[in-house]
Amino acid sequence: SNRIMLGPLVAAIDQGTSSTRFLVFNAKTAELLSHHQVEIKQSFPKEGWVEEDPKEILQSVYECMDRTCEKLTQLNIDISNIKAVGVTNQRETTLVWDKETGEPLYNAIVWLDLRTQSTVERLINKTPGRNKNHLKHKTGLPISTYFSAVKLRWLMDNVEKVHEAVLSHRAMFGTVDSWLIWCLTGGKKGGVHCTDVTNASRTMLFNIHTMDWDPELCKYFDIPMEILPKVRSSSEIYGLMKSGPLTGVPISGCLGDQSAALVGQMCFKDGQAKNTYGTGCFLLKNVGTKPVMSDHGLLTTVAYKLGRDKPACYALEGSVAIAGAVVRWLKDNLGIIQTSTELEKLAADVGTSYGCYFVPAFSGLYAPYWEPSARGIICGLTQFTNRSHLAFAALEAVCFQTREILDAMNQDSGIHLSQLQVDGGMTSNRLLMQLQADILCIPVVKPSMPETTALGAAMAAGAAEGVSVWSLNPEDLTEVTSEKFEPQINPEESELRYARWKKAVQRAMNWET
Ligand code: G3P
Repeated sequence: SNRIMLGPLVAAIDQGTSSTRFLVFNAKTAELLSHHQVEIKQSFPKEGWVEEDPKEILQSVYECMDRTCEKLTQLNIDISNIKAVGVTNQRETTLVWDKETGEPLYNAIVWLDLRTQSTVERLINKTPGRNKNHLKHKTGLPISTYFSAVKLRWLMDNVEKVHEAVLSHRAMFGTVDSWLIWCLTGGKKGGVHCTDVTNASRTMLFNIHTMDWDPELCKYFDIPMEILPKVRSSSEIYGLMKSGPLTGVPISGCLGDQSAALVGQMCFKDGQAKNTYGTGCFLLKNVGTKPVMSDHGLLTTVAYKLGRDKPACYALEGSVAIAGAVVRWLKDNLGIIQTSTELEKLAADVGTSYGCYFVPAFSGLYAPYWEPSARGIICGLTQFTNRSHLAFAALEAVCFQTREILDAMNQDSGIHLSQLQVDGGMTSNRLLMQLQADILCIPVVKPSMPETTALGAAMAAGAAEGVSVWSLNPEDLTEVTSEKFEPQINPEESELRYARWKKAVQRAMNWET
């Protein structure tokens, strides 16, 4: 047969909130050779609750792997050239399973879930001065429904099976990375129970200075440390694939999806930043090897640690809960569009929100507010307003939220970013990209290969000790081609619209209290 000779290939599993992907890259050129994507169901069993099925998540990974390998074979590419697999994932989403049966003991509680709101309020009220930043010196995070510790606590308190499994030493906790790696490396028959430093830094149980689980934090949330996965670097061999078309291939990269995008965008230098538009929207700025604490509502998080003996790098992060999720809401809940891609056309029909502002605070507000009791609001409606204006307002909401976290980032560092590197599914929406440049008043730069999250995980996997088919040396890295969107409206108009947005945000705040 005419097999194409390409040299080593590296793959990535990208398990996001809305979908799972499997992608295969050429390790020499970073070219994307083939991929497959499967949408993930979300359930909303009660108001504010968001769950996903751990088995469906695992199945979707196998399906994407199988289909991608089939596509490669059809292209005459030998899948035995795949030398490593990286895992990147939606962060914070919390799972508990039984290590003897391999069965999940409850659905995955998704990061967006609000069921722990009262617990969080109680914890904050107990701190001296009702300070939501009480644990920030260790974790880099405010006490919030967003992070895993409170979700895990909820599972232990409310799900009998979880409670029993913890007592009988059969429970394993993990974020999605841990669940997948454990299953893929053999599950109940010797699976590896681990996570990486970036995912661990989102649990509220991890000390970002000592780079390990923190006994005091575990005590604070009353979590037994034996159920926690072992913390590893983001680039090392964790174990080998035990089934599927890539049996025997090492899994050697692991990063939370936002960290992976930072790596995939080659933001290795202090001060470099990227914004990813997925289900939510996450702006991360590399701050180097010393953690920097924010005075403006940003998180301090581990950016990556690319090898056991390599230093950890930290990032400041502005997290926005709802970005792409607002598109899905317009589609599934309001039915004003049939497919996500229709939104751009609908909004472009009018080219303005005509004074309509939409604050999609479905899960409270994240950065820079950290206000769990905020709720969504649509305001400024007139008889004239129609679904196109609402579509436009939804896109603008994503841009205004990014402006808020960029402003916080600029205020924290005193240095203003002169342009914004972006990626993620929504960046294919050109209207959104133009609007973003207009609202930030700086150029927005988008790489021509949009799958930067997967690329970052593949790079980490390919560079791991014992694999070494991908160089992370900045000089050896392939030049990325990109597209630039320049601001086109005058700054005064931009400021005016932004000021209105801020007014709308004030109305969304403290809705529940
Ligand atoms: O913190 C949550 C984040 O990791 C989810 O990313 O791409 O699924 O919105 P995404």
